Amino acid sequence: MTDFLRAVKTVIVPAAGLGTRFLPATKTVPKELLPVVDTPGIELIAQEAAALGATRLAIITAPNKQEVLEHFKPCPELEETLASRGKEEQLRKVRRAGSLISPVAVEQEKPLGLGHAVGLAEAVLDEDEDVVAVMLPDDLVLPTGVLEKMLEVRNELGGSVLCAFDVPEDETYNYGVFDIEEAEYQGPHHVKKVRGMVEKPSVEDAPSTFVATGRYLLDRAIFDALRQITPGAGGELQLTDAISLLIEQGHPVHIVVHEGKRHDLGNPGGYIPAVVDFGLADPVYGPHLKKVLRAILEEHGA
Ligand code: UTP
Repeated sequence: MTDFLRAVKTVIVPAAGLGTRFLPATKTVPKELLPVVDTPGIELIAQEAAALGATRLAIITAPNKQEVLEHFKPCPELEETLASRGKEEQLRKVRRAGSLISPVAVEQEKPLGLGHAVGLAEAVLDEDEDVVAVMLPDDLVLPTGVLEKMLEVRNELGGSVLCAFDVPEDETYNYGVFDIEEAEYQGPHHVKKVRGMVEKPSVEDAPSTFVATGRYLLDRAIFDALRQITPGAGGELQLTDAISLLIEQGHPVHIVVHEGKRHDLGNPGGYIPAVVDFGLADPVYGPHLKKVLRAILEEHGA
């Protein structure tokens, strides 16, 4: 494989948020462990990171959220029991997360913002890592593989590359919206150059319909930028402020517009469709689920 496509060693996974939109479940269960069919969101992210060729998952956790790391550790008693009962398929499932990638815990004592969380991961990077990926575990970007496209764009245009979705105009107020211009790019992907970003603008003020989603390919320069910014919206250190600073300082920042779908696992309204989508695609549960869903839809007059 071409070398630049293997450039990311570390994927940073910020998972120290409070998960308030998913209460009461998140009183005791970190939202990253909620299952999509039978697999926790964090394992889907680990799978995506491993497919990218990354070897390290830097998971930013809150002091009371260590269970997320536990998911990657061996479970000797359970594994022995399953093995002695010949339950090979279940044994494979128990071992899968740990075999994908090597997780490293980075503790964020207080939820001081996504920018703060990402900044903490610098401590676990090797000196030769000049680029990192950030994957927000709330966000399923499908089909997977967008970071590979982003690496191609970085290889051509340098700097940092972000993933964007094109949303209807009246939905932009929910997101970080990109202010864009045409990029000097002739390749196969849908690429724009970023001039700036506006966090959750009113519909009239949105500079485009291209919005940020949870995949970032960031030049190591981001860590200097994160040290320079001050708390922004909500008193938190915002990753978007550090990206804006990079742009001001002349670093190239581009977006790849993703042609596909996304699920927001961070709130029940996005999580339920994700489970239905994955459930319908599942060879074991899909056929029955299809029937049941039809009946449920009818019952609800839909
Ligand atoms: P969100 O704001 O979507 O997550 O942050 P949250 O704070 O957990 O959710 P709500 O709003 O209370 O329901 C985006 C991502 O950044 C992480 C979160 O864990 C999530 O993956 N994050 C956010 C941190 O790791 N640390 C922070 O200080 C803030």
